[in-house]
Amino acid sequence: MALGRFITFEGGEGVGKSTQIALLAKTLSERGIEHVVTREPGGTAGAEALRALLLAPNHDWGDRAEALLFAAARSDHVEKLIRPAMDAGKWVLCDRYLDSSRAYQGGAGGLGDSDILELHRIGSDGLLPDLTILLELDPQEAANRADARDAGAADRIGAKTSAYHADVRACFRALADADPRRFTIVLADGSAEDVHGRVLAAVDAMAETR
Ligand code: TYD
Repeated sequence: MALGRFITFEGGEGVGKSTQIALLAKTLSERGIEHVVTREPGGTAGAEALRALLLAPNHDWGDRAEALLFAAARSDHVEKLIRPAMDAGKWVLCDRYLDSSRAYQGGAGGLGDSDILELHRIGSDGLLPDLTILLELDPQEAANRADARDAGAADRIGAKTSAYHADVRACFRALADADPRRFTIVLADGSAEDVHGRVLAAVDAMAETR
């Protein structure tokens, strides 16, 4: 049976992850590669229920509770959707995954990387993607895009301070620099098709080497 692949998309708010995932899914369909598109927090019934709790503006979760809830949602997602799809030879395209917890709760939230990785070991057996695409965009342009999308109604985490989001971006960059084998940094400016071309180059390079 063909080997399932696990590709995650990461980055700050408004960098165009969902557009790029949709374009990659279309290309995989054209190539006859079976795949599933999913997201975090979410992807399974249980994890979507946790998503509602995590992102609703009426809860005031601390960073530790937040990290535990994201890890719990991920555990359910890995066990019920990601692993079974990969075992069936499908490719999994996921909008955010572990590295979001490392950047948002671990770095910007101050929990530290080792605790987030430990939660991931307990919750999800430490499953890592084959490839992580980090989309990077000028912060002002990303903020404009996110504002246009959210129309002033950002979720609880999207609405945190600009200093928090600057920390998130710096953490993503540090994670990518520390693990160039798994990460590819993709510049997210230009047209969606231009960015798709860069994403596809990274995916094809992964398929050749792994
Ligand atoms: P989402 O609407 O998916 O945001 P975006 O469109 O920006 O990807 O909301 C997910 C939010 O949850 C986003 O602000 C990032 C945050 N998040 C974490 O803080 N930790 C995590 O582990 C994950 C998966 C997401």
